[in-house]
Order: sequence, then C-alpha cells, then structure tokens
Amino acid sequence: MKDLVRYILLYAHLIGFALLLGGAVTQWLAGKFRINQAMLIGVWTQLITGIALSAPLRGEGHEPPTAKLIVKLVLALLIFGAVFPVRKREEVSKGHFYGIIGMVLVTAGVAVFWH
Ligand code: HEM
Repeated sequence: MKDLVRYILLYAHLIGFALLLGGAVTQWLAGKFRINQAMLIGVWTQLITGIALSAPLRGEGHEPPTAKLIVKLVLALLIFGAVFPVRKREEVSKGHFYGIIGMVLVTAGVAVFWH
C-alpha cells in the first residue's frame, strides 16, 4: 500500500516535471518568453508531490539523503520564485527564462545522479 502511494506520487512528480520543462521549452522554441499555464501547474505539482514523496514512506534504509532533498527543495523554491510572481507579465527577459530552464535541468540532474 505504501509502495502504491509512493508510485502514484512519483508518477505525478514526473508529469509535473514534464509540464514544467515542456512548457518552458515550448515558449523558448516559439521565441516568446512568457510563463505559461503548463509551467505554473508544473511548478506547483513539483513542490507538492516532491514534499509528499519526502515523507518517510519506504521504510528503513531506503530514504534519499536528507541533503539531496534539501537541495531539491531550495532549487524548487527558487524556480517557484522565478515563475509565480511574474506569471501575469506579457514577457520576461531572456536571461530570466534561461535561468528557469537551467534550474529545472539542474534539479532533475540532482534527482537522478545524487544517490
Ligand atoms: C522542479 C523541481 C523538481 C524536479 C525537476 C524534480 C525531478 C525529479 C525526478 C526526475 C525524479 C525521479 C528520479 C528517480 O526516480 O530516480 C524525482 C524524484 C523525487 N523527488 Fe523530485 N523534482 C523536483 C522537486 C522536488 C522537491 C521540491 C522535492 C522535495 C523536497 C523532491 C523530492 C523527490 C523525491 C523524494 C523523489 C523520489 C525518489 C528519490 O529521490 O530517490 N523533488 N524528482
């Protein structure tokens, strides 16, 4: 049962990642640096499902390192801070947008390579 909850949360977490990165790359390819709905849903999903996944659901010895979770939380909060407050702007600067994409890629790298 615990495993099922964890798999459902991980599934939602991966969909959130797809929405956040996919939304950002779509805007980048279109040359219009605007926060879209997919990015907003994605960043909320990552925060909520990431925190839920960090609950001790998997039993002794299988938890990801606490430092990894803290680094991911800090990065996700930075991404949130770069996405949410400017969501209504017509456009943000290129640098701002590349910063968002870069931080998402770094966070996914931390998720996959840090064990
Ligand atoms: C933009 C933000 C985020 C991205 C792109 C992201 C990306 C990912 C990816 C790709 C995985 C799957 C890795 C695997 O199963 O090997 C994952 C798993 C996970 N993420 Fe995130 N994540 C984000 C935010 C967060 C946050 C804020 C937390 C909580 C503090 C978090 C906690 C976790 C946990 C606990 C797992 C489960 C597996 C593990 O770490 O070993 N994530 N994340």
